[in-house]
Amino acid sequence: MTDQPASTAPLKIAIVGAGPAGFYASAQLLSGKGIDRPVEVNLFDRLPTPFGLVRFGVAPDHPKIKSVIRMYEKTAKLPGFRFFGNVHVGRDVAHADLAARHHAVIYTTGAAFDRRLGIPGEDLPGSHPATDFVAWYNGHPDARDKTFDLGVKRAVVIGNGNVAVDVARMLGLDAGELRETDTADHAIEALIASEIEEIVMIGRRGLAQAAFTNPELRELGEMADCDVVVDPADVALDEHSRTWLERDGADVREKRNVEIATEYSTRTPEGKKRRIVLRFLASPVEILGTDRVEGIRIVKNELVADADGWLSARPTDETEDIECGLVLRSIGYRGSKLPDVPFDDQRATIKNVAGRALDESTEEPIPGLYTAGWIKRGPSGIIGTNKKCAQGTVDSLIEDLNAGTLPEPTVTDDDLTELVAAKQPRHIDWSGWRAIDEHEQALGEPQGRPRVKLTRIDEMLDVANAAVAGDAA
Ligand SMILES: Cc1cc2nc3c(=O)[nH]c(=O)nc-3n(C[C@H](O)[C@H](O)[C@H](O)COP(=O)(O)OP(=O)(O)OC[C@H]3O[C@@H](n4cnc5c(N)ncnc54)[C@H](O)[C@@H]3O)c2cc1C
Ligand SMILES: NC(=O)c1ccc[n+]([C@@H]2O[C@H](COP(=O)([O-])OP(=O)(O)OC[C@H]3O[C@@H](n4cnc5c(N)ncnc54)[C@H](OP(=O)(O)O)[C@@H]3O)[C@@H](O)[C@H]2O)c1
Repeated sequence: MTDQPASTAPLKIAIVGAGPAGFYASAQLLSGKGIDRPVEVNLFDRLPTPFGLVRFGVAPDHPKIKSVIRMYEKTAKLPGFRFFGNVHVGRDVAHADLAARHHAVIYTTGAAFDRRLGIPGEDLPGSHPATDFVAWYNGHPDARDKTFDLGVKRAVVIGNGNVAVDVARMLGLDAGELRETDTADHAIEALIASEIEEIVMIGRRGLAQAAFTNPELRELGEMADCDVVVDPADVALDEHSRTWLERDGADVREKRNVEIATEYSTRTPEGKKRRIVLRFLASPVEILGTDRVEGIRIVKNELVADADGWLSARPTDETEDIECGLVLRSIGYRGSKLPDVPFDDQRATIKNVAGRALDESTEEPIPGLYTAGWIKRGPSGIIGTNKKCAQGTVDSLIEDLNAGTLPEPTVTDDDLTELVAAKQPRHIDWSGWRAIDEHEQALGEPQGRPRVKLTRIDEMLDVANAAVAGDAA
């Protein structure tokens, strides 16, 4: 037992998920603001590598965005911070193990799964969720052995968000563009050998309602060996869209998207190796094929406004079949339930108010249980959005600390490292990750690449353990 009085003993917080939300919450807690005692943060990730979707989501040809990692590295150097990599909470270590040893547990586990279209043919070989494709080209160990048949002439990407743009662009990059990135080696080879000539990206609503942002749309028009093609008929705004763009508080991003795509519609394709075709107002109704994807049937949509002016897509009776061999469904990510943590099935998030997890039946806050990031609010928002989101959760936690409603740890004489070592002997700490990081960067350096990613957990652990053994020798 500790002999320190409770009020000066460190405040112990476990954070599960070392993505942006986990790091922002760690930094905010370790800053000590509003907390009149030392703080200890134990940050867990199921992978040996930290940073979540910054490593496994952000497109490899966007290296500047990944520089946010430098902020997280500063957090990892703060006194009181510990990293437990390769520890899957809910499998290797139970929620109860963490709850017993901390004043609070914050879940920041993200949303790694895909939403379903619910149409016939969705599971035919050749039809994949974009979540898998993104994980594959980014070298996520879970997707290491997935395969995508790129020996086809046309791919169709469903969805009009930034992830859809990312996957369309990744399919359109040429060898030179790919070879300077940290795209996983297995994906670089496959993408360079790809026989895809046309990538069709389909939005269910109009251009003016598309979710993608201006720089991402602009990039499609600047690719080395890929034209962007937009039919002028697809950028002609209907009455609803004109009203939408002129509404009070209209989003300037949407107006710019219309301007950018309108300029694309005036371009004559330069005959580049590949082309990305943007289409709007169409929904998939069936993925066609007997043994594998042979095409996709889409229905043309029209926009309808509800009483608040929100525009939805309504199918007409006009359909069209598009021949294709690959379908990537990019209609949003989805969170998943963790053992012993309350879950809202409909929203696929941890049920919460202001980051305080709620009991599923009483809807009352569960003392000491919190959430932040995509698993708190759903799979939307950029990296920075998670900073404010995590701050909201940390504010709630500090409010509860000051109100005296945080539970005291029930196990105070137990060393967490021993518990983790017993339950997951192959866990690594921050120095283990740093060894992996340095190893990857050293592999990348002679090739002029930021890094060559290790894509198998065993390889990562070997590198981490060799470094630890070297330090010990
Ligand atoms: C394809 C894609 C590209 C994106 N590109 C950009 C971009 O260019 N710019 C931008 O600003 N935003 C981008 N975003 C958005 C940004 O990545 C997210 O806003 C952000 O990563 C969400 O942070 P998070 O911490 O909630 O979740 P995540 O980043 O998903 O982190 C969750 C972490 O929890 C871990 N975890 C999960 N379950 C467990 C468990 N049971 N035990 C232990 N650990 C667990 C995971 O391994 C992961 O490391 C992109 C998103 C996607 C999907
Ligand atoms: N470069 C970047 O900054 C970057 C890169 C990648 C991701 N991100 C961020 O990460 C978050 C997630 O991105 P995301 O692209 O996965 O999600 P998103 O922005 O929510 O886009 C989802 C897309 O899927 C469509 N959709 C949903 N259900 C559909 C259905 N049943 N049929 C057809 N289409 C359907 C949506 O159309 P409706 O609009 O009609 O619903 C929308 O176009 C976003 O906040 C995004 O900005 C940022």
